[in-house]
Amino acid sequence: MSPTAISGGSGGTLRFLESTIFKKAVMALTGAILFGFVSGHLLGNLQIFLGPDRLNEYAAFLKSNMEVLWIARTVLLLSVTAHIVTTVQLMRINQTARPVGYAKKNNSHSTLASRTMYYSGPMVAAFVVYHLLHFTTGTLHPEFSPVDVYSNVVVGFQRLPVAISYIVAVGLLCLHLSHGVSSLFQSLGFSHPQHTPRIKAVARLVGILYFAGYASIPAAVMLGILRAPSVHL
Ligand code: HEM
Repeated sequence: MSPTAISGGSGGTLRFLESTIFKKAVMALTGAILFGFVSGHLLGNLQIFLGPDRLNEYAAFLKSNMEVLWIARTVLLLSVTAHIVTTVQLMRINQTARPVGYAKKNNSHSTLASRTMYYSGPMVAAFVVYHLLHFTTGTLHPEFSPVDVYSNVVVGFQRLPVAISYIVAVGLLCLHLSHGVSSLFQSLGFSHPQHTPRIKAVARLVGILYFAGYASIPAAVMLGILRAPSVHL
């Protein structure tokens, strides 16, 4: 981008807002916010292994201040929307820059995660819609209780297709996330011959650990490690 693109009054500001640099910064910021949520949500969910009371108390605590909850929900919704809209805008910019595409794609430097970014993103978004109808509103849950989150999760995952679809969805999310975390640094202009490969390795590890963490919950229900409280009696 030329220096004139970021200066020169309102026309310059408009050009800056339309620049690839600004859009990549939006992707990095919104991606970081979403990553923060996914990290907090994982830590919160893992409390299921500490028993029904612990998880239900934690869920009640989250809902104890509805103003804070709705502020957090609004920030999340705005971040998801900006992340998706900016992705589409960047795709259009890429298509305009290279309308014909490569005769033969060289994938030697790309990874499965980077090649599937445009597919994993929408699939994760579709999963989140299903997930909200399943565990938040209870619309798609067979025995939903607004206060017993522990039972909602256990009963929900006792259906094998549901448990398996969650494992597939969190797999896609973690694939998306592992590439997203490393591109966040690139988007912020950080590129270093020694540190960049390390960042990529850490991002891959984060993807694997988050997958293990999230998938452990439906897997534990399927294996009978996590059971509905009445079964213990
Ligand atoms: C095995 C994996 C997961 C489990 C067991 C799980 C569990 C839950 C539960 C029980 C709730 C409702 C909490 C409550 O009402 O107090 C919830 C809400 C939610 N989950 Fe998950 N979740 C999982 C994965 C994910 C993933 C991967 C994402 C995002 C990509 C996600 C995004 C959300 C969102 C946005 C909400 C709504 C939060 C709100 O109330 O504002 N979840 N989840």
